[in-house]
Amino acid sequence: MSLNHSLDCGTPARKSEELVTLTIDGTEVTVPKGTSIMRAAAELGTAIPKLCATDSLEPFGSCRMCLVEIEGADGRRYKGYPASCTTLVEPGITVRTQTPKLAELRRNVMELYISDHPLDCLTCAANGNCELQDTAGQVGLREVRYGFKGENHFDVKNEGKCASYRADGAKKDESNPYFTYDPAKCIVCNRCVRACEEQQGTFALTISGRGFASRVSPGMNEPFMESECVSCGACVAACPTATLTEKTVIEQGQPEKSIVTTCAYCGVGCGFEAQMQGTQVVRMVPWKDGQANHGHSCVKGRFAWGYATHPDRIKTPMIRKSIDDPWQAVSWDEAIAYAASEFKRIQAKHGRNAIGGITSSRCTNEETYLVQKLVRAAFGNNNVDTCARVCHSPTGYGLGVTLGTSAGTQTFDSVLDADVIVVMGANPSAGHPVFASQLKRRVREGARLIVIDPRSIELVDSPHVAADFHLKLLPGTNVAIVTALAHVIVTEGLVNETYVAERCDAESFKLWREFVARPEHSPEATEAVTGVPAAVVRGAARLYATGGNAAIYYGLGVTEHSQGSTTVMGIANLAMATGNVGRMGVGVNPLRGQNNVQGSCDMGSFPHEFPGYRHVSDDTVRGSFEQAWGVALDAEPGLRIPNMFEAALDGSFKGLYCEGEDIVQSDPNTQHVEAALRAMECVVVQDIFLNETAKFAHVLLPGSSFLEKNGTFTNAERRISRVRKVMPPLAGKEDWEVTVALSNALGYPMNYAHPSEIMDEIARLTPTFAGVSYDKIERLGSVQWPCNDSTPEAGTAIMHIDRFVRGKGRFMLTQYQPTDEKINERYPLILTTGRILSQYNVGAQTRRTHNNQWHSEDVLEIHPHDAEERGVKEGDWVGIASRAGETVLRATITERVQPGVVYTTFHFPESGANVITTDNSDWATNCPEYKVTAVQVTPVAQPSEWQRRYADFRRAQIDRLPGRGKRERERV
Ligand code: SF4
Ligand code: SF4
Ligand code: SF4
Ligand code: FES
Repeated sequence: MSLNHSLDCGTPARKSEELVTLTIDGTEVTVPKGTSIMRAAAELGTAIPKLCATDSLEPFGSCRMCLVEIEGADGRRYKGYPASCTTLVEPGITVRTQTPKLAELRRNVMELYISDHPLDCLTCAANGNCELQDTAGQVGLREVRYGFKGENHFDVKNEGKCASYRADGAKKDESNPYFTYDPAKCIVCNRCVRACEEQQGTFALTISGRGFASRVSPGMNEPFMESECVSCGACVAACPTATLTEKTVIEQGQPEKSIVTTCAYCGVGCGFEAQMQGTQVVRMVPWKDGQANHGHSCVKGRFAWGYATHPDRIKTPMIRKSIDDPWQAVSWDEAIAYAASEFKRIQAKHGRNAIGGITSSRCTNEETYLVQKLVRAAFGNNNVDTCARVCHSPTGYGLGVTLGTSAGTQTFDSVLDADVIVVMGANPSAGHPVFASQLKRRVREGARLIVIDPRSIELVDSPHVAADFHLKLLPGTNVAIVTALAHVIVTEGLVNETYVAERCDAESFKLWREFVARPEHSPEATEAVTGVPAAVVRGAARLYATGGNAAIYYGLGVTEHSQGSTTVMGIANLAMATGNVGRMGVGVNPLRGQNNVQGSCDMGSFPHEFPGYRHVSDDTVRGSFEQAWGVALDAEPGLRIPNMFEAALDGSFKGLYCEGEDIVQSDPNTQHVEAALRAMECVVVQDIFLNETAKFAHVLLPGSSFLEKNGTFTNAERRISRVRKVMPPLAGKEDWEVTVALSNALGYPMNYAHPSEIMDEIARLTPTFAGVSYDKIERLGSVQWPCNDSTPEAGTAIMHIDRFVRGKGRFMLTQYQPTDEKINERYPLILTTGRILSQYNVGAQTRRTHNNQWHSEDVLEIHPHDAEERGVKEGDWVGIASRAGETVLRATITERVQPGVVYTTFHFPESGANVITTDNSDWATNCPEYKVTAVQVTPVAQPSEWQRRYADFRRAQIDRLPGRGKRERERV
């Protein structure tokens, strides 16, 4: 059996209470109504030959390979030989899948296919993993009596016979950096076209031409790279032949084994099979049993994994006294001993609180747990924080106070039961592409869509999906919008009174109802503030409250504001008031940005919380950790990341252990971050590359990529999935081993033989994880927390079913407070930031892949009106100046942004997008206000002063690395 298709039952499983019993080849089988005969036969272990069918797609019935003979319940034979993939089971029928006549018919059909197929099997990239080859063997084809005898109609030598069919040409399309299309091998089974439509929802492909001239055509008969293809790879995975093939397979050959792991990019947490030759990855194939992705993927997880073995990888520990010194390559022992001695020296001189640690949402749960343990137990303080500080910390706060727990309420599959979908401050097509495909599928099935976003994102209006309402608000006015929506729900009598009376806190609801009903919160009164016409707000509110199951999905456009926590609370208020929490199809769903944002928060990496969101001042909780860890722990919350920077500039914070996080590039006000790092005496960076932060470091500890270690990630559904080591760590150590070594060198012993032991400790100390273990994940594929004695074995899919985690749902008042970041004559535009599909976060991984072919620099989106006013033309360099700093980007003119708003991404360090963002932050959590910066945009001819200075600094830092050629490998 070929690796890719080993479990293919031919057609999708059906869910029906009604069961049907039939007989296949003399054996009775009972299956749900709606099941195909092909799938029913597969349940019995009978594989009917097939080409156009696959169980990830709806049956199509084009290849005629799967013919069967059927007798009805009345004993009368069905006419002809029906295709078993498109014929559904009926009670009492008798099916024969193997008869001499069927064998002859199938051989004849196969002979026709092979008569027009180049028979270069031995040198074909799919050799050993080709369904055409397998099926020809299965039907016993032994001779081909006609046709092109090993060539096909596209072949040059047949020009005389078939010149007209060569109009499209047999030319391979190699435009996509990751896969090729070879029309000579196409059997026109349509699987690729259906995968693009059904799984991905992009509709990039069609079959053009007829008969011999048929061929797969991207877009308007364009090369893949020029079409609307987003390179998700679904068509490649669906193709049964070598027509669509990964270039890595062409170059390296077929894989020989497969290890299931989890994508290290976004918070969807797709399961992948790492298909390997020895310790070399040949390709990543989306795992069909992955419960977050069901066999689908996006361009990042599917193809952009080459960074893991990029020549820029740091493979040797290094130390230096000062950041102006060259790096000195040392052994692991020397590097760890140096870092530990520096931390001890600093604490002896400046006090216990003079050092801290930062962990990252890219790290595994086990690694993050160990970093916070190291800080609390070995450093002896609570100065630990995580990059979730700068993205979803308001989610933790807002959902904690309203619903009682800091996590999304649903599974991703829940969207398939939604009737109304609200997407607020998120662009799933770029940030969470596999979830976006599910969402779009549900909208195509008839769900209504409301988008609340300053930009016209893809979901607002694209060929196959359009929003019913687009609330195109001004950045910074989220709270005014959610309160106006609540106003309509309350004043128009749309509250679900029964739900609220049963499930929510009466006193807080009374106060909230009175608050939102005030005239100043009406859509008409807030229209001037938000820029959204009152009628649109009213229409959206009515649809949300009355349209059936309504689900809200939100992203960083909600949280990264000075009132991020307030908007999160406002969203929870809306869901509670309309009874939209606690069942499939509804809920409040933060779309977590990075792969393990949820996990890094769960693991206690905030300065005030132990794992499981329990405050460090809680004596009982602290006592349990003190007992388990054998050390006294501090009851006072430690420093958050921005407080660490301030303390460093004050001279009281001198040492930092930073694992997997690039604070120089990702935190706001870059100049401030750089100054803070320069003020420290020992910065230890643990990362796979010499990232921007490492350029200010004194100790560089090589990190391990997700392919080189064991552990778990927790996705946005609270789903804990295994990360499995598929190759040895390039620098010799997994990240958790480095933290263990540092702790031991500091004198606090840690002793684990495998990350599963770390998870066992987490489970022992964290009630919501009590039932989590590697054994269970191995058995079930994944589990969702809360997972303990009071939940089903696999944990909790939907939260707050009968009651909220906090007991009664609590309504919070959401008073709109305009941000301090005001536009004025000097800074008349609002800059907001976001992501793009092909790049990821600070770009450290994706910039080192072919994904640069889609997006090789950050650009500034500007509305035609604003561009014209400033004399800016498409592609011009423009200076963007804010109160914090200035940078220069290329401009692109588009109506995706509204007049007065400009937009950029932050994937390239040289862009300096965070040089211009300010120190403003969320009132409750200090999450930076990335989404609102007042700026001026002017045409310029050269890079900003910061960019020139920084380019020099980066070049000098790269020169300080041992070895030659580094400069060429880095973009400077
Ligand atoms: S790679 Fe994805 S988007 Fe592109 S054609 Fe194939 S299925 Fe469609
Ligand atoms: S490219 Fe592959 S999947 Fe698409 S029609 Fe041809 S053989 Fe079928
Ligand atoms: S980046 Fe996200 S959506 Fe894409 S494959 Fe990875 S987990 Fe899935
Ligand atoms: S597999 Fe049934 S017609 Fe192709």
